[in-house]
Amino acid sequence: MANVKLDNIKKSFGSVNVLKGIELDIKHGEFVVLLGPSGCGKSTLLRIIAGLEDQSSGSILIDDEIVDVMPPAKRGIAMVFQSYALYPHLTVAGNWGLGLKQAGEKTAEIERRTNEAARILDLHDLLDRKPSELSGGQRQRVAIGRAIVRKPDVFLFDEPLSNLDAALRSQVRVELARLHKDLKTTMIYVTHDQVEAMTLADRIVVMHDGIIQQVGTPRELYETPASLFVAGFIGSPKMNRIEGTSDGKNINLGKAGSVPLPAGQTVTGKVTLGLRPAGLRAVNAGSNACLEGTIILNEYLGRESYLHVELTDGSQIVVEVDTETRLESGEKIFLEVDPLAINLFDTASGARL
Ligand SMILES: Nc1ncnc2c1ncn2[C@@H]1O[C@H](COP(=O)(O)OP(=O)(O)O)[C@@H](O)[C@H]1O
Ligand SMILES: [Mg+2]
Repeated sequence: MANVKLDNIKKSFGSVNVLKGIELDIKHGEFVVLLGPSGCGKSTLLRIIAGLEDQSSGSILIDDEIVDVMPPAKRGIAMVFQSYALYPHLTVAGNWGLGLKQAGEKTAEIERRTNEAARILDLHDLLDRKPSELSGGQRQRVAIGRAIVRKPDVFLFDEPLSNLDAALRSQVRVELARLHKDLKTTMIYVTHDQVEAMTLADRIVVMHDGIIQQVGTPRELYETPASLFVAGFIGSPKMNRIEGTSDGKNINLGKAGSVPLPAGQTVTGKVTLGLRPAGLRAVNAGSNACLEGTIILNEYLGRESYLHVELTDGSQIVVEVDTETRLESGEKIFLEVDPLAINLFDTASGARL
């Protein structure tokens, strides 16, 4: 196990600033997920931690030791990539043993580690197979096994599930969660998939344009997103956003309606209201209805339905309802807002209020 500290990491490729001062403390045994859209700098940061890429400035500390000039092999790190790149002419055991043999490990030790990894990944029966005789999910497990046999202090994963189909993705995801429980090793995992991040992470680091937007547990990010960007990136379907003006008592949403400010909030001026689809409720006209609109699509998903609603000002939102709510396209809908579900953001900066 090892802690990892990133101290003001910056990286430029030519004149392009890809990482703009990354500060992060990762604790012993923590599972940290770097989450953000394609191109935000996740892989670059991971490669810098691994030593495969040099940072332009800043320092990396592993167990409180600066490793900036330490070669990758000395950092106690093993990395698993999206493309598993196994040697096709070697068996599973051969693929696992190769690196260890080159590092001078004894045959008995290689065998011991191979058996241990096979047990953890449930691959005992496949040790003598070549990669071409394995399914995609099995190959990715073999790639993870190749990292496990190295007994690293830190595992780095770069979108390891991206090449798998949906069913396999969720299966290997569960295996990764179990692996972390078993090994209790520090893991840093890169993905653009918020579901992977939410299900695997102790803490998620949301990145955007080379900057950390927010660090927190999955629950913290979901319940109190620090910015409109985080609010839009975490949760599916996306958080609805409606722009309005607050007079200190109500948020006036123009033709769409008006929503009371939550207790304790006194903000005035331009605000953006963030509402999770589950924080809205279909009610009868009058009553406590705040918003009014027309249903343009009812997506039935078995346990719940997503109603796509066009509000009276023409903007669109999504409302999650139970499937007993039988409302169809073209029907009018009146919506009550759960005050606890209200997120307020500064419209100009996007910052949470
Ligand atoms: N070797 C490189 N040379 C120039 N630009 C690069 C290089 N590697 C990455 N980039 C650029 O850095 C940005 C971040 O890339 P990357 O870290 O791969 O993003 P992510 O993994 O979040 O999708 C992208 O705009 C990419 O084009
Ligand atoms: Mg990447």
